[in-house]
Amino acid sequence: MNHLLKLGDLSPAEIEEVLNLADQLKYDQKHGVDHRYLKGKTLGMIFQKSSTRTRVSFETGMYHLGGQAMFLSSRDLQIGRGEPIEDTARVLSRYLDGIMIRTFAQQEVEDLAKYGSIPIINGSTDYCHPCQVLADLMTIREHKGALQGLKLTFVGDGNNMANSLIVGGIKTGMEVAVACPKGYEPDADIMKWAAANGKFTCTDDIAAAVKDADAVYTDVWASMGQEEEKAEREKVFKSYQVNEEFMALAHKDAMVMHCLPAHRGEEITAETFEKHADEIFDEAENRLHAQKAVLVLTMGDKK
Ligand code: CP
Ligand code: NVA
Repeated sequence: MNHLLKLGDLSPAEIEEVLNLADQLKYDQKHGVDHRYLKGKTLGMIFQKSSTRTRVSFETGMYHLGGQAMFLSSRDLQIGRGEPIEDTARVLSRYLDGIMIRTFAQQEVEDLAKYGSIPIINGSTDYCHPCQVLADLMTIREHKGALQGLKLTFVGDGNNMANSLIVGGIKTGMEVAVACPKGYEPDADIMKWAAANGKFTCTDDIAAAVKDADAVYTDVWASMGQEEEKAEREKVFKSYQVNEEFMALAHKDAMVMHCLPAHRGEEITAETFEKHADEIFDEAENRLHAQKAVLVLTMGDKK
């Protein structure tokens, strides 16, 4: 694996390789077995948006693997003053062994990979969030034993999370259903690809999407960068809430998932969130393990 720019670039076998290594690294970490696969290596972490999980899990992951991570806020980098991405990519490639970037435009991530000569990892863009979904797939597999044939339902905005969940779900043999208001659908090309490559539906009927689901996923109504649309979105998404009423339509033992941060009383009720807190925080923990696997497979000698 050279980069992790989006899940669409990975084959099902590569996704499985990440998940298997993530499971192994999690097991070893819990049993006190260290792996210094990235000894002496440095990961640069460029953030153009806020982060709790992504920043802390990547930084800790690099430390566990014997390397170090460097937090690079775009406010302080020359990128913030207009230095082109193609120059930044070539300069940072001379110092670092890998870059993790969280930004707005997917094109910036693709350009870093195009002009740089080190592995690039997407820490989320407006288009997708591949690291989160690798952790999500790991968590579903951990709880359910396998992914093939399960039904994964996403309720809410057709945003970066929806896009990556569709791709990750279809590539691992799950049925994927999305419930979102009209006009807020996931990426049109991704939906077309999903319909041609697996079992996929997109509807504004939440009950139909949630029916018989094995995992019900939701995310905020307004993503980072959409703060000005917040009031309008609160009206549009009002009924797109994961709650006990809708969960009654899913499988009896269905999981509830959230990438976090969560807004209780908006996309999920406090009651449903707390009922499924173990799953949701396993999911958050698995960011660390899944990303350690990605770091090893892109930056390590295992690649
Ligand atoms: N889920 C996620 O990516 O969280 P952060 O925004 O805190 O990194
Ligand atoms: N859709 C959210 C995900 C945060 C992890 C956002 O982009 O803000």
